[in-house]
Amino acid sequence: MCGIVAAAARREVSEILLEGLRRLEYRGYDSAGMALIDDEFDLKIHKRKGKVAELEKAQLKQPYHGNTGVAHTRWATHGEPSGVNAHPHISGLRVALVHNGIIENHAALRAELIEDGYEIASATDTEVIVHLLHRSLAIGGSLLQAMQKTVVKLEGAYALAAVDIENPDTVVGARTGSPLVVGVGIGENFLASDTMALRQVTDRFIYLEEADLVCITPDSLEVYNADGSKVQRQVERIKEGLETTDLGNFDHYMIKEIFEQPEALEATFGGAINAEKVENHFGDDAPALFDQVKQVQIVACGTSYHAGLVARYWLEEIAGVSCDVEVASEFRYRKRVQHKGTLLVVISQSGETADTLAALRNATADEFIGSLVVSNVDNSSLVRECDLVFLTRAGIEIGVASTKAFTTQLVALLMLTLVLGRRRGLPDSRQRDIIAALQSLPECVRETLELNESIQRLSEAFIPKRHALFLARGIQYPIAMEGALKLKEISYIHAEAYPAGELKHGPLALVDSDMPVVAVAPNDELLEKLKSNLEEVRSRGGELFVFADTEAGFANEARVKILPVPNCPEVIRPIVYTVALQLLSYHVALQKGTDVDKPRNLAKSVTVE
Ligand code: M6R
Repeated sequence: MCGIVAAAARREVSEILLEGLRRLEYRGYDSAGMALIDDEFDLKIHKRKGKVAELEKAQLKQPYHGNTGVAHTRWATHGEPSGVNAHPHISGLRVALVHNGIIENHAALRAELIEDGYEIASATDTEVIVHLLHRSLAIGGSLLQAMQKTVVKLEGAYALAAVDIENPDTVVGARTGSPLVVGVGIGENFLASDTMALRQVTDRFIYLEEADLVCITPDSLEVYNADGSKVQRQVERIKEGLETTDLGNFDHYMIKEIFEQPEALEATFGGAINAEKVENHFGDDAPALFDQVKQVQIVACGTSYHAGLVARYWLEEIAGVSCDVEVASEFRYRKRVQHKGTLLVVISQSGETADTLAALRNATADEFIGSLVVSNVDNSSLVRECDLVFLTRAGIEIGVASTKAFTTQLVALLMLTLVLGRRRGLPDSRQRDIIAALQSLPECVRETLELNESIQRLSEAFIPKRHALFLARGIQYPIAMEGALKLKEISYIHAEAYPAGELKHGPLALVDSDMPVVAVAPNDELLEKLKSNLEEVRSRGGELFVFADTEAGFANEARVKILPVPNCPEVIRPIVYTVALQLLSYHVALQKGTDVDKPRNLAKSVTVE
């Protein structure tokens, strides 16, 4: 989604802003722009549709310089991706502003501004904000005061950064519903939508709170809360080494991140030797809350939702805890009946997903005994707002298609299953088996990664296809859903997952020689049922690609290709099979020539609903 970088410094900042935008590219965007206040106190602006590289070319051709500026990558919501709709937006050749989020009352504000004589050049919801700022500044007062008066008129979600040629060393920011951090420097201060954008200039950050406003100059930094009172917010130092964005020998972040999974899984599990040690990962307040848990309600989006669906099987089968799972965009708007003793579990790799955050915020103490977040980003909004936090140790994930963040979420959720199961009398021997399985997981994943070349060969059959069906049963069904999501996300092949038992209730009508059918088929108690379903596909001319362990008894034959997945303990198989399906979608996308790490229309951090 959109990204913000802003700077107020004693040195020239154009390159800092551009580097910040490059570092935000992973979030997904379709245009970029930058505004600087130059030596003559003029606003200088470049805006381009497309990649940050286009903006760089514009800056190379016509260099603009300044010590104060704002920059932005835009992911279009209102108005097509274009130079005109790209941010920064300006008003009266005086104020420039960038915005993440959505202004819901933009139409009413637009009408009001037009009546006041403002011309609105773009189709965006953002442009109204800059004219409101300008209108307020024209009456008098500082940029900060103008921003204070402006934000009270806005409905919706926003992170904002603005500059004004009459206050040439100042940047003012505000946030409600979208994240904004302050990067603290010496003789310079910055704003950005996430810390990644500023790691080249500082390791000290303030995470602004909901409804905060901030005013930075090279030598000062003031934060105000919604009441307009000046407040102190803690400066936090980010540890070195946790975030490496180097591609190394890999061609894409996605494949790099797929191959990083053994270490990420190991780090997330943390080498616990018994269930008590596992519990330490959930923090000091966890035991008291876990003692009260009678049910679990999981809420998440996309891939994280699939992690929740897998967890339901584990929680109900192993821990004996009843569990519901729902996508956040439905959960947040639905009238619900929650049972007593329900723990709300939100899952989000970014910790910023707007719907998941809204679901958490509108969950009441009457409904839930408390909340737990499973996230990969420390200090993210969800992490700051939940009672309990489990931080996965995947390391930064740049590829838009989530890979190691998903499998580490699964480890976290299996650990949750273990600690809740222990409270409900899960036998010691079963607890030991699960721990042993988790310990063996990195090695099982390493062995699965050795299939890379075989999967690459298998993937060739998918290149001419427009559709694909994924089938599985039981706990592997959400893994089939995840496999289908990965394929459609990055290769743009339409893919759907079905529980194999549903085949003859509709999807079988789609099966012909043109429909590749991927089956996730480990040797488990549902295997024979699944085999019958696959026979139904074969007898209708469908082409099968079966991911199965050697004990599942499949053999290569006409129109049936087998991908042998290493044997591993049953409880961790969802994670192991996921890795094989990730490789499949990566290789299909690679051969189709799509932008693997930044698929069209998608964003890494979905901060608007
Ligand atoms: O950051 P989150 O885990 O909350 O994100 C949720 C989804 O947007 C995300 O999982 C999305 O589906 C990914 N692109 C999947 O690869």
